[in-house]
Formats: sequence, structure tokens, C-alpha cells
Amino acid sequence: MTERLAADTAGLSRAAELLRSGGLVAFGTETVYGLGGDATDPLAVAQIFEAKNRPHFNPLISHFADAESAFENVVADERARALAVRFWPGPLTLVLPRRVDGRICDLATAGLPTAAVRVPAQEATLTLLRAVGRPVAAPSANRSGAVSPSDGGHVMDGLGGRIAAVLDTGPCRVGVESTVLDLSGSAAILLRPGAVTAEDIEAVIGPLTWPAHDSVSGALPGPGMLKSHYAPRLPVRLDASTVADDEALLAFGLPLQGGRLVWNLSEAGRLDEAASRLFAGLRALDYEGALLGLRGIAVQPVPGNGLAVAIRDRLSRAAAPRPGSGFASGNESDIP
Ligand code: TXA
Ligand code: MG
Repeated sequence: MTERLAADTAGLSRAAELLRSGGLVAFGTETVYGLGGDATDPLAVAQIFEAKNRPHFNPLISHFADAESAFENVVADERARALAVRFWPGPLTLVLPRRVDGRICDLATAGLPTAAVRVPAQEATLTLLRAVGRPVAAPSANRSGAVSPSDGGHVMDGLGGRIAAVLDTGPCRVGVESTVLDLSGSAAILLRPGAVTAEDIEAVIGPLTWPAHDSVSGALPGPGMLKSHYAPRLPVRLDASTVADDEALLAFGLPLQGGRLVWNLSEAGRLDEAASRLFAGLRALDYEGALLGLRGIAVQPVPGNGLAVAIRDRLSRAAAPRPGSGFASGNESDIP
């Protein structure tokens, strides 16, 4: 049985008690729900990997109530400190060298010499992290490879019965996962785009490096940057300029004519609204589309910079060929 906890005093103290005794508790952040466990306890961290069915080579982000506690576990240089002042609490994760006296266990970092840390902008969750008083490892609270959860119900759909509790902090404001920035070397490398944009970061620390996506060898820019991710069961077709009667449509702005089932990310064409509705839309179209026997999800283009880069990143992973699956989804040019 998975307990559903309200984000009130009783719920928060129960969540803290569970986490401190090695249990798994999912909680909301401003980005997506995280599946939390004590990052200092290898047994709790092992259970996170189990519950998600996540490959052990993919390291986890540790969450903290403030920058000071985060930096007790990693070596923070001037760049990291400047970014923390500007963007924490907020949707930015920093990958930094681990400190020898740090408390994050090896399993949480997949044995790497670096660790990912962040301070989320969610008041109730910050209260929880303060009460736990330890680093809390939290990957997105979905089964590995599935669409990330942006409300408590999504978490129950994927992990209900497999974890101790869900702390319901309401729908996530941002809706896509945090920006992941690797500062463990002299170059600052953007591993995952998010709501803190490349331009935002460059304004504080200067030019960034983007990891090379090697489409031929399939080499991964980061340990967990699997190309296929956020995968709905229905095939996803990007940059659609038409939609068939037997397809679902993920629209943006003025919707295309047609499609049996439509989810508009933002009629007004707003990127913040689109990001916050992205994962809920993919889930709804996938679920209802399968019930209606539709053959796939057509996605209208989401143009622009900033948050649009993060949205396109998640959509292209949702559309990427999946290892071991019979079909290849892709962009419109793939459709005969
Ligand atoms: O918004 C978020 O970041 C959410 C909420 C819950 O905080 N968490 C999240 O976690 O998205 P997850 O595990 O789904 O994604 C973490 C990403 C993975 O791609 C992982 O490979 C990368 O961060 N990562 C973690 N530690 C790393 C490290 N030491 N070096 C490079 N990448 C790392
Ligand atoms: Mg994830």
C-alpha cells in the first residue's frame, strides 16, 4: 500500500519519518515529481533503482534544502556558487566533483567521481528536506523510460504499491525536468536543457559547451542521457503539418484540422504553459488514444528558444526509436 500524504504538518512529518527510516517517498518539485530516498543509505538508494527499474549506471540527483548543505557534499567553485545564488531554489542541477568527506553514497552517483545536486523551488518539499536533514536522492518518479510525472496521480499510476508514500504537493509549476549543467571540468557542459536556459546560464558564467550527440555511434553525452525516454506506448511523429483521422494530435498554438483526439499544449502559444502541460498531454493522448485504437500521436512544431529547446528535447526523446521495440517512430518525412 502506498500512503497518499497531504502537504500539511502531519503529512510532512510522516514523509520525513519514512525517508529517515529508509523508505521511499515521492514528492513534488517545481519541475516534476521525484522519487525520494535517503542518499546516504545504499539500501534506500538500491530500492529507488528497483522501484523504477532503472539501470544502475544512471546516477541520481541529490536534493537539499539550501546551497550550503548541497556544497558540503561537492566541490563548488566560483561558477557553481554564482549560479546557486542566482538560480536556487530552482530548476537547475549542478554536476560537481564529490567531496571526500561528502555523505552521498556511491550507488547514488553510480560510482562516478562527480555528484549531481539541486535545491528545488517547492515550499513544502523544502520543509521536508529540512526535516530530513540529509541529502535526498530523487530521480523522476516514473518507471524508467516512461513519461515523467507532473502530478501525484501520475506517480500513483506508475509506482503505486511499489513505494511507501506520495506527498501530494499539487501539479508541478514548470513541468519539465531541471537543466543539468556539468561543471566538474573547466568547460561548462549543458547535459540536459530545462527551464533555466543556456542564455540564462551564460549571462552568469559565460559560454557553455553542448555535448556532441553522436547519431552514428549512439554515444551518450552523459551517463543517463538515453536517447529514447519519456516513451508513450503509441508512436510519436514530430513536426506534423497534417494530422490523420486515426491519429491523436499534440497541438501548439492554432491546432491542425483533424485528429480524433486533441491536447493543446498552449492555445496562446505560451512556452511556460506548454512545458507545464507537456507530460500530462503525452500521458492523456497515449492512454485515450490506445483505447480508441489510434495509430500514433502527431506533434505540431514548438518553435523558439529558451524553454522551447527543453520541450523539443523531451519530444525528440519521446519519438526516438526504442531499443527492442518493433516500430520506429520519427519525424514526418518518415511517413510514406
Ligand atoms: O527536475 C529534475 O531534475 C527531477 C526532479 C525530481 O528533481 N529529477 C530528475 O532526475 O529528472 P532523473 O534521475 O530523472 O534525471 C537526472 C539526470 C539523469 O539524466 C542523470 O544521468 C543525470 O541527471 N546525472 C545525475 N548525476 C550525474 C552525474 N554525476 N554526471 C552526469 N549526469 C548526471
Ligand atoms: Mg527521469
